[in-house]
Order: sequence, then structure tokens, then C-alpha cells
Amino acid sequence: MSRRALLRVGACLAVAAAGLKTIAGNAAPTTEYRIGPAPGRARLKGSDAPETAVWSYNGQIPGPEIRLRQGEPVRILVENGLGEDTTVHWHGIRLPNAMDGVPGLTQPPIRPGESFLYEFTPPDAGTFWYHPHANSLQQLGRGLAGALIVEEAEPIEVDRDLLWVLGDWRLDTEGQIAPGFGSPMEAAMSGRVGNTVTLNGAAPADLEVRAGERIRLRLVNTSLARIMALRFEGHRPVVVAVDGQPCDPYEPADGRLLLAPAMRLDLVIDMQGEPGKRYAIRDDFYEGLGYELTSFAYSSQPPLRENPLDASLRLPGNPLPRPDLQSATRHELLLEGGMPGMNNMQGGAGMQGMAKMMSGGMGGMKHGQAVWSINGTAMTGDGHAGMQPLVTLARGQSHFVTLRNRTAWWHPMHLHGFSFRVLSRNGAAVPHNQWADTVLMAPDDSVDIAFVADNPGDWMLHCHITDHQTAGLMTVLRVE
Ligand code: C2O
Ligand code: CU
Repeated sequence: MSRRALLRVGACLAVAAAGLKTIAGNAAPTTEYRIGPAPGRARLKGSDAPETAVWSYNGQIPGPEIRLRQGEPVRILVENGLGEDTTVHWHGIRLPNAMDGVPGLTQPPIRPGESFLYEFTPPDAGTFWYHPHANSLQQLGRGLAGALIVEEAEPIEVDRDLLWVLGDWRLDTEGQIAPGFGSPMEAAMSGRVGNTVTLNGAAPADLEVRAGERIRLRLVNTSLARIMALRFEGHRPVVVAVDGQPCDPYEPADGRLLLAPAMRLDLVIDMQGEPGKRYAIRDDFYEGLGYELTSFAYSSQPPLRENPLDASLRLPGNPLPRPDLQSATRHELLLEGGMPGMNNMQGGAGMQGMAKMMSGGMGGMKHGQAVWSINGTAMTGDGHAGMQPLVTLARGQSHFVTLRNRTAWWHPMHLHGFSFRVLSRNGAAVPHNQWADTVLMAPDDSVDIAFVADNPGDWMLHCHITDHQTAGLMTVLRVE
């Protein structure tokens, strides 16, 4: 199905209101989208490979790219064409709690055949995404995810602005999605890491580039569980935003970019390679399981310009409330559980490790059982009525939270409703003024974050390795 299938009903309204805006100075235009999650089919492995039965938004993998303008309201109608309940969570967007998409906690689930209208005004420009928050293992694992871009009023100067939505699938020999979601063994280890990585819903093809051009590259990891560590051979990507929030532009020291599930990075890359050459982009996160994701293929054209573009890489700031560290209330969240560490499995388990565990006896564990906890409590699933908050945060106050990973596994910890400052990791200050909504914790890491609790409601905090979330690595923070 083409992009036209996506109804951008608000176009006329937008033009009319924009006219009014100049005259009246108010009445921001409203953009409207419709997205329908439903069963569909997709060619994930190229045109020769068999089609895969998937669940998708508007028949597209990834779902339609939603483009909004900072500070302008949007209405998104979600029409449930699945045979089960769903919701949509607008990951990273600071919005009213009732629009956050957590079933039972912030809204009733959307029943099959029913719809729900989400309405919000994105305060921050940046790279965000959306996905279901119901039966997440299957709904996300079968393909429901899409990017949501909020455009800056004045973007930085680049030649091209590209989006890579990265996905990970576990396909069987027929090219169909393998069963076995929610394996208790995987839940206690690295989660359901797949065997097929897609870029914008397809087998990654080379990206054709021209020497001298400047590209803004927005990366979104929509995987259930796969953590990525990307290296750009022969290039020096500059990180300009983390989880949609601008940072002081920086080149990662070792050239390795960690991108765990739910994380986003905005990069600016000056194409400094040689015309006609090919430069690999590799993911080597899991030891011994590195692979080439894609590559930059230079055209033979002469460079677009002699020297890199002389324009600022600094994105305009977002209106984030700055936490006051002096007066901040302190909290500590202890992550515990999972399988004990084994030397050969740090950084996530290979299949051998899994097989070992199989025979090692996890037979007593059941699907949906808690194997992780936060401060000794465990919430399982995706969200349901009656979830009691672990802590209540005073509204309008600054809060300083120390997250301690007392497990042998990596966890991208996501907080709904807020972007937080990432202050320090294992006692060392985190440079470049980084904000995030999902912070990746290595085994034994301790990370300090801070934010102003300016948005009332019950907000989830959970690991975004979906198997971990549904098996207990989740809690609720109440702001009131
Ligand atoms: Cu992407 Cu509960 O989140
Ligand atoms: Cu986790």
C-alpha cells in the first residue's frame, strides 16, 4: 500500500488555519492522521524471498511516518483491525497522561473493531516513535511500530534528512514469524533477539551517497530485544540528539554507537569517503555475532563540495524544564533478577548460551511469571487496571533518581511522559548535556537521572527489552 493510504485529512484545515494564524496570532492548525493496526503481509527479505504474514499499521512496515510540527496539535485516530485489544504509546512525547496509551492505566484498551482518538500537542521537536502497549511481545514482534518526527521550526542545514527505522524479526525457514513469544528462558536472559534485521521494513540495501554531502541520519531501534552497536567504517558521525532531545554535538570516543530497543539517535555525517568506494556499517553488539547492517555506496560523481559544509550542528533547544539538583528529592530504583551472569554471556546471550540454559533446568518457569523486580516489586504484562504506584513524586518538584542494575544483563530503561537529564554513570559525569527517555544500563551499571515532575498522572517505567518488561521489569511512578 502506498503512502497515499495515509490520510492527512488536516491539510486543508491547516492551510485555512495558517491564514488565520497570521491575522489572529493564535489558533494553531490541527493535523489529523488515521492509523489502522491490522494483519498484513510484507517483503522483509527482498523481492525474491517469500512474503511474511505480519501485523502492520495501514499495511506498511514500518508504520506510516508521522510528521508533526513542534507546538502544533495533532489528532490521530487509531482504528483497531486486529483480532485483539490494542493501544498506541507515543514513545518519548511529553503529553497528557490520558493520551499515553497504557491499557488499564491511562485508557481502556481499544477493542477489536473499535477506535480511539489520540490528541496532543508535541512540545519538543525530535525523533520519536509509536508502538502498541498491549500484548507487546506479539504486537511489536509482529511488526507494529512506526516513526514519529516532530520537525524543528528552524532545522539545521543538511543536504538530506534520512530516517532508518531498524527492526528485528525471528523468522522460520519459510520466512514466517517464528512462534514461541514469551519464552520464560529468554525472558530471564537477553529477550527474543531475532535473526533478520530490517531497515525501513526491508532487507537493508546500500545507501547511495555523494562525496561531500552532509546527511542527517535519524536512527530508531524498534526491536523487541536486539541491542545494536553501530560502527561507520571510514566516517565520523556526530551525535546531535539522543532520544529526540538535542545534546551538545559530539563524536563518540570509540566511534561505536549503542542503540538499544526504543532508543533514537540523530546523527550528522559528512560524507568524506572517496567517490566510487563502499564503506560498511556494522553492528557488533553481541560477541561473535557481528554482521554488516548496510553500507554507504559512493557514486563516482566528484565531491559536492571541497570542504565540509560550514554550518552549525547544534539543534535548537526544546522547552524542557531543568531540574534543580540542590532541591531535588532523591530516589533509588534497584533492578534485580534474571539469570545469574556467565562469563561467555556478558552483553547478551548467543544461541549456545540459551541452549545451555535450556538443559540447565528452567523447566519450572511459566510464561508471564515475574523473573525481574524493581525495589523488590514486579509488575508483569503491558499495563492493566489497578497497578499501584511504587513511588509518588511531588508535582512541580525536581527528582533525582539513581537506577542500579544489580543483574547480569543489559536494560534500556524507559520512563513514560518525561525526558530526563542523564547526569552520571558509575560516578562519572555524562558529558554533552544529554537528555533521554530511555537509558541503557550495562550489567552492574548505576546511572543518575533527574527531571522535573511537571506532568501529573501515573507513568510507567520499564525495561524496553519487551521480554524483561512483561516478566517484571516494570513499575509505575505517580506524579501528583
Ligand atoms: Cu516505548 Cu512503555 O514504551
Ligand atoms: Cu531489560
